[in-house]
Amino acid sequence: MPGPVLHITGARPNFPKAAPVHRALAERGVTQRLVHTGQHYGEQMFDVFFRQLDLPRPDVDLGVGSGSHAAQTAAVLTAVEDLLVQQRPALLVVYGDVNSTVAAALAAAKLQIPVAHVEAGLRSFDRAMPEEINRVVTDRIADLLFATSPDAVAHLGNEGIAAHRIHLVGNPMIDTLLAHLDHIDADRARADHGLADPYVVATLHRPANVDHPVDAAELVRAVHAVADQADVVLPLHPRGRTRLHSAGLFRHERVRVLDPMGYVEFLGLVRGAEAVITDSGGVQEETTVLGVPCLTLRPNTERPATITHGTNRLVTRAGLAAEVEARLRLGRPQSWPVPPLWDGRAGQRIAEVIVRELS
Ligand code: UD1
Ligand code: UDP
Repeated sequence: MPGPVLHITGARPNFPKAAPVHRALAERGVTQRLVHTGQHYGEQMFDVFFRQLDLPRPDVDLGVGSGSHAAQTAAVLTAVEDLLVQQRPALLVVYGDVNSTVAAALAAAKLQIPVAHVEAGLRSFDRAMPEEINRVVTDRIADLLFATSPDAVAHLGNEGIAAHRIHLVGNPMIDTLLAHLDHIDADRARADHGLADPYVVATLHRPANVDHPVDAAELVRAVHAVADQADVVLPLHPRGRTRLHSAGLFRHERVRVLDPMGYVEFLGLVRGAEAVITDSGGVQEETTVLGVPCLTLRPNTERPATITHGTNRLVTRAGLAAEVEARLRLGRPQSWPVPPLWDGRAGQRIAEVIVRELS
């Protein structure tokens, strides 16, 4: 008997990517185990997603928790190695670009267990982002590479990865968005939060925006300048809370800082917003499909399809308020393109390839 397919999740953005792949493999009768590393934990960053998404609770939670990059990566590497030795899976599936992704892939590669990387080939070409290092290393050691967009396929080819290992399958995170669209209710979100139109949603957690006091202070000034024009609702990632609090984020009456939200509630707020300000990867993609103007507070993006096919624009902190003002003046687009294959069937395509490879 071949071993199970073992999925690794670590952080919040992994859950909506894993759910459709797990579901599509279950439909094909594949034996699976879900392992959570524990990089993200607690009600808001972990439990809520297993109630809302079509994903069973993990069979194993390795409980590694927070730490420096080296400490966290090493803890995942060691814990996953032990598990792989016990379980001998036929395939390890890793998602995205977080520390848990690269650590688990490395543990499997050293044990000669095949690795599939979902969301392979994204590149910001910015090694100051820890995720870029995780992406490059994971792709280098993966056996099966599932890409969301043609640019990702091209990057993998340029890095010398054989074409037969690369599969352009679309975007599983968008499968999850489309599967939950009926419950992603802008009117309800507006009512629950007592919001009047227009309002802006913000999510901010990249180290380059929130880790250093000077950046955090500049960010807070930019968000306050937006709040002079519209209510800003900000479900704040735990990473930035202390620093942004010290920088005075909470001191504007039209900035509402909330705890991190459940998936359905968060996307309800996004769906009704006039614009979204973010440094998240996934939110750039979700706004692209929802047709909500997205202003990304970063100098680059590994998701260029959200700009060429979507509603995303890269902005600076200094230019943010003027960009929001322009969005408020223009209003929401009536129609918008969506990248090819972001159609709700990526999980099915990934499962087809995995089943073929396993047989
Ligand atoms: C991680 C990913 C990032 C991803 C983000 C998604 C890496 C290198 N970074 O960043 O790519 O965009 O997740 O949300 O893997 N914390 C909590 N509770 C939690 C998790 C974290 O309070 O459940 C706090 C801890 O103080 C921790 C800090 O947030 O030290 C950072 O957490 P960590 O998982 O290291 O990185 P993220 O910034 O969450
Ligand atoms: N998200 C959520 N609640 C929030 C903020 C984000 O459910 O309060 C979801 C969001 O819709 C997307 C995912 O979390 O599905 C993105 O995760 P995050 O921004 O933390 O990570 P990134 O995509 O930047 O790696």
